[in-house]
Formats: sequence, C-alpha cells, structure tokens
Amino acid sequence: MPGTLWQNQSSPDRKCDAEAIRILRSNDWGNYTLPSRRLYPYQWNWDSMFVALGFCEIDLDRAWLEVESLFEGQWRNGMAAHIVFRRDQPGYFPGPQIWDSGQQPPTSGLSQPPVAATVVRVLYEKDPNSGRARLRKLFPKLMRWHRWFHTQRVISGGAAIAVTHPWESGRDNSPDWDSPLRAVDPAGIRPYQRCDLGHVDSAMRPTMADYDRYMKLVEYGRATGWDHAQITREGPFAVADPGITFILLRADRDLKALARYLGYRDSLFEIERWLRSAQRAADYLWCPHHGAYLARDMRTGEHASGISSVAFLSFYAGLANSRRDLRLLDHFKRFMRTVKWGMPSFDPEDPRFESRRYWRGPTWAIINYLIARGFTQAGYHDEALLLRETTQRLIMQSGFYEYFDPLDGSGAGGPEFTWTAAIWLAWASPQAGQG
Ligand code: GLC
Repeated sequence: MPGTLWQNQSSPDRKCDAEAIRILRSNDWGNYTLPSRRLYPYQWNWDSMFVALGFCEIDLDRAWLEVESLFEGQWRNGMAAHIVFRRDQPGYFPGPQIWDSGQQPPTSGLSQPPVAATVVRVLYEKDPNSGRARLRKLFPKLMRWHRWFHTQRVISGGAAIAVTHPWESGRDNSPDWDSPLRAVDPAGIRPYQRCDLGHVDSAMRPTMADYDRYMKLVEYGRATGWDHAQITREGPFAVADPGITFILLRADRDLKALARYLGYRDSLFEIERWLRSAQRAADYLWCPHHGAYLARDMRTGEHASGISSVAFLSFYAGLANSRRDLRLLDHFKRFMRTVKWGMPSFDPEDPRFESRRYWRGPTWAIINYLIARGFTQAGYHDEALLLRETTQRLIMQSGFYEYFDPLDGSGAGGPEFTWTAAIWLAWASPQAGQG
C-alpha cells in the first residue's frame, strides 16, 4: 500500500517523515505544488520535478500529475517555462504582467534546469504498467523541450547550454554570473518594487544592483517578443552553465531510456545526436587552471573565476575522465573539509563566499541529492554517503528550510520549503527509496 512505510511516527526521523508529508500536502494546490506559500506562490519548473520525486514515495498518481501540470505551461516552441502563473497573487514580483509572455496559462519567458525526463524515468520505472499511457503522452513534450535547449540555447557550433538570465540557471545570484552581469547596463529600466524583501532578510537576498540587471534582462527579452534564438545569439547575457549543461546531458540519457521503452527509433537517433556533443560541451566548460568545470561567458569566452558546486554534476551527467575526475574529487574533499555542513554552493575558500546569501555559499538539499546520485553511479559511494548523511542531519537539526548555512547548519531562506521536504522523502530520510 502506498505510503505505509511512512506511517510509524515514533522516532525523530519518523517525525521528520510525517512533517515532510505534511509540508508537501499543505503546499499542494491540486495538480501542482507551491515551492513555499509566501515567497513563491506559483508553480516553479524544477521545484515541481523534485516535488514529483517526493510524491513518488507516497502517491504515484499525484507525482505524475505534478509533471503533467508543468507541461501545461509549455510554449509552442517547446520551452517548458520556469514559472507557470495560475492564480493571481499580487504579492509576487515580477508577476505575469511584467513577463507578458502571451501564453495561456501565463508563464515567465525563461526556462529552468531540465530535471523532468530524469524524474519521469523514476516514476515510470516504479510502475511501468500504470505509467505507460502517461509516458506516451509526456514523451513528445519532453522531446520538444530538450530540442528547444539543443537548438535555442546553444550558439552556432557550440554544445554547452547557455542561460540568458541568471534565473534560468536556478542558481539566481551565484558568483558565476557576476562578471557577465556587470556588462549589462541597467540604465533606463522602469521603476519597480521587489516583493522578496518583505518575506526574507535582505542579507540573504540579491542586492539591488543585481536586481536592476535582472529586470533589464527581462525587459530585453520582452522587447524581442521572447524570441529565444535571438536572445541567445545577441542578447546582453549568454553564459554557458555547467549546471544546466550537465543536468540536460543526464536528462538526455534518461530520455533515451524512455524512447527505448516506447520503441521510438526516430527519437532515439535524435537523442543520440545530442549526446554526441557531450564531450565538446564538457571541454568548453573545463578550466585547466582551476581544475574544474566552470561557467563561461559566451560573449567573451572568459571562464568564471571560482568554483560552484554544480561543477561536481559531471558525474551525474555520466561523464568520466580520470584525470579531471581526480581534480574534481580533490575540490570536493576540500569543500567538505572547509565547512561542516556541505555541500556549499560556492568555493568556501573564495573571498566571495557568503554562507547565508542565496547561491553564494549556502547548502541546498536538492543539489546534494543530484551530486550524490552522480557519485553513486560513478562508484564513489563514500562521497555519496557523506552528502546523504549531512543532508539528513541538517534537516533533522534545523527543519525543512529552503537552504542552509554551511558553517553552522542553521536554516535560511523560507521555512517549510517544499523541495527540501520532497528530497527528504525521496532520498535523505532513512526510510527513503533514494530516488
Ligand atoms: C529561487 C531559486 C530557484 C527556485 C525558486 C523557487 O528563485 O533560486 O532555483 O526554483 O527560488 O524555489
């Protein structure tokens, strides 16, 4: 019976199981789930996919619904949007009017890391009989979204995937974007009022100088009528992102497995063509000086000047290169030694590291999960276990926060955060099926 595993509530970890289920259910709005009631009152793309993993442990039907509803916001050109706006929520900025996407339901004009195909594979494999008809309907939508990345978010001849707004990476104000963002001139933006600062301490959120530039990029995209190819080719910001590139690469492999299950030969060939560019994408991102995969400004060719945790997603992407992997593992050990509660989102020895500011240092349960999955598959079991145990202790000690301070393990950002609860159920809980 679904969920029986989760019903005994006596020990502290069992209390966490019950609390995680409560959070998922209380942020559940029927067929989609809010990341957090006050801070993020709509459907976010990759949040929803982690939520589906959480639901997969207790209610498989509801997990499929979460994925299906995300694709209600898919554009004709294939993009699955980063936010799907359904009910009117005046407390959120920038809302549907600012994006002016022309879509129904309204959406933002960008995408987010494509974890969907990987998640759909988990759901399908859990029960292929009940999942087959649903997979058949979703598969063409996943294909169209991946094709959108491979055609609209690469620059001629390139293979690494560009983000055209820091928000598209899901790592909104990572130091990876600092230098390319400085080149964006915010002059002339319309006056606006942020809402995030009303909910969370400003010391944890992006600065005003960054926010002006975020808004400039939204205004630019809107002025092109959201012509994604043009935005990638000519817009003020196009940065190859190891996060999206590796997540897509992994998702391409999972999509290939799904095409096999369905016996779709044409799709298989197309996906294999995408996969053939994997090595070139990785080479483009590799920085020999740092010994890591780094974001790279597509306009100038410059690498970011510090290491983000998404560098370790190359294992998750299924890339193997013994020389590079050794250097990455050294960095991994150094990151985890330097802070007590890793994995920090940015190099803790870099002067720009900030332990509580959004993506400039904090630990995120979803990232720990993705990195650990890659480690497990590559045979680095101790590293995977360290990430899982750290995440488990963090949540048991501090609760289901949006993210955590890697120095003292305290929770930060929004409380009762859905993706943290979902990752608990899918992976961090001692009872978890481990995604
Ligand atoms: C922030 C995060 C992004 C996430 C969203 C909703 O914008 O940076 O990754 O999807 O919040 O949780």
